[in-house]
Amino acid sequence: MGCHLVALLGSPRKEGNTARLLKEAVRGAEEAGCTVEVIHVPELQIRPCMEIFACKTKAECAIKDEMGTYYTKIRDADGLIVATPVMTMGVPGALKSFLDRFQVFYMAKYERGEPLVTSEERKIRKMLLLSIAGMNIPNLFAGLLQTMHAFGEITDCPLWEKVLLPDMDNVRDITTRPDILKEAYEKGYALGEEIQKATSEVALSME
Ligand SMILES: Cc1cc2nc3c(=O)[nH]c(=O)nc-3n(C[C@H](O)[C@H](O)[C@H](O)COP(=O)(O)O)c2cc1C
Repeated sequence: MGCHLVALLGSPRKEGNTARLLKEAVRGAEEAGCTVEVIHVPELQIRPCMEIFACKTKAECAIKDEMGTYYTKIRDADGLIVATPVMTMGVPGALKSFLDRFQVFYMAKYERGEPLVTSEERKIRKMLLLSIAGMNIPNLFAGLLQTMHAFGEITDCPLWEKVLLPDMDNVRDITTRPDILKEAYEKGYALGEEIQKATSEVALSME
């Protein structure tokens, strides 16, 4: 069974600690038999949601920029890996703008009752979240988790598993934490396996 994943990198640093963590999860997913397309979100030429609300009546955004391509990519993926640092206690701005633009999916699903993802596809799709943060305080990932949970529901790719690493200001270099890199690899691998298992089950149930 095929398995194609999209990975969103929310860090501006393409070779930073978040990117390193993502690389391990992608390696795991690929070794489990998936293909993975990595999208470096801060480089995209996209605007924030302007609340034009054209998407209330049709599954399209009134803003004509690169987002059209990414709606299709996220819609067609069997699963997602999202890797991001915490910034100002939440999701970095570029990634947040990207996520907000999925109001197109929100309106289709909740306003018109015409979800862009089928109930069979929903049984397959799942999201692995990887995040790191500089500080080490309570509720450090709370904002991020709420946002990613909402995005997972809106796009019918629910938050499935996560790898969260606080205290990066002290850790500094993630290669000094092979345990976390291993966890990312293993969860990437498990994501690939789970998606392929679910794909087979859905195919069987439709025979
Ligand atoms: C603009 C900005 C805001 C940040 N805000 C927070 C924050 O609110 N809480 C926190 O724990 N770390 C914060 N950090 C630290 C990052 O989460 C941390 O440095 C992370 O390791 C960066 O990931 P990278 O290696 O992929 O660049 C912030 C960093 C930047 C650049």
